[in-house]
Amino acid sequence: MAFVTDGGRQYVVAGPWRRRADIAELIEVSDGKHRALLLSAVLASLTSLGVQMVIVDYGPNAVDPVLCREAGLEVVERIVEYERPDCRVEPRPSALEVRSYRHEDRDAILDVERHSFPWLWWNSPEEWDAYVSLPSVGVIVGLADGQIVGYAGFTVYHRDGHLDRLAVHEREQGRGFGSALLVEALMRLDQAGARRVRLTTQEDNHRSQALYERYGFRRGRWVYEIYGKWLNRPEGAHL
Ligand SMILES: CC(C)(COP(=O)(O)OP(=O)(O)OC[C@H]1O[C@@H](n2cnc3c(N)ncnc32)[C@H](O)[C@@H]1OP(=O)(O)O)[C@@H](O)C(=O)NCCC(=O)NCCS
Repeated sequence: MAFVTDGGRQYVVAGPWRRRADIAELIEVSDGKHRALLLSAVLASLTSLGVQMVIVDYGPNAVDPVLCREAGLEVVERIVEYERPDCRVEPRPSALEVRSYRHEDRDAILDVERHSFPWLWWNSPEEWDAYVSLPSVGVIVGLADGQIVGYAGFTVYHRDGHLDRLAVHEREQGRGFGSALLVEALMRLDQAGARRVRLTTQEDNHRSQALYERYGFRRGRWVYEIYGKWLNRPEGAHL
C-alpha cells in the first residue's frame, strides 16, 4: 500500500510484515512537511482494512525515533543477540524423539508456535512455507508420545550458523525438551560445517536466555528495537 503527495515527491509505503496479513510494516516514509498527513492516511487505511498492528522494524539498522513518535508507535520488542564460538556439543540423553521436519508437520508446528511464542512471533503459513523452502534452512521436530511438542529451525551460510527458532509447547516446557532440541540443532549445524552460531531472542525472555547461556552462548553486541502500535487489538492478544 502506498500514498503519495506533492507530485510524487513525498510518499509512504506499507506492506505485510513477515507475510502476516494482520501485521503491517511501515517500509518507507519520506521526509518532508506532509509526513504527518501521509502517516495518518496510511494508518487510517490499515485500520479500516482490519490490520491489527503496525510496526517499524529495520532490523539492526537504526529506527527513526521522530518518525515513530509522529506515528504514535512505541517500543513493542527489544531484541538481543547471542553467539557461541563453535557448534560442538555432547549428545544428551532425552525422552524426546527428534527427527527432521516433513511437510505434513506444518500445522502441528504452527500450533506449537501459538502455544509458545507471543502473538507477534507467530509464523503465518505463507511465511513458514517460504522459510522451509530455503536450501540453507534445516528444521527438526521433537515428539513425545508420538505428538509434535517442539521444534528448532536453523540456517547455515558458509561457516556461519544461525539458530532461527526454538520452541516447546507450553504444556511440555520444563521437561528438558528445549535443551534436547538445542543440542540436536547444534550437532546438525556442526555437521553442516558451521563454525560459529548466532541467535536473537527477546530481551525480556529470561527463560530462553538462561537456556542459551547454560549451553555456552554469550550476549553479542547489538540490541535493536521494534516499534509498534495496535490498530485493531484482537481480544486476548498480548505481546
Ligand atoms: C525456551 C524454551 C524453548 C525452553 O524449552 P523447555 O522445554 O522449557 O526447556 P528445558 O526444559 O530444556 O529447560 C531449559 C532451561 O530453561 C529454563 N527453564 C525451564 N523450565 C523453567 C521454568 N519452569 N521456569 C524458569 N525457567 C525454566 C531453565 O534454565 C532450564 O535449564 P535447567 O536445565 O537448568 O533447568 C521454551 O520455554 C519455549 O518454547 N519458550 C517460548 C519460545 C521461545 O522463547 N523460544 C526461544 C526464543 S527464540
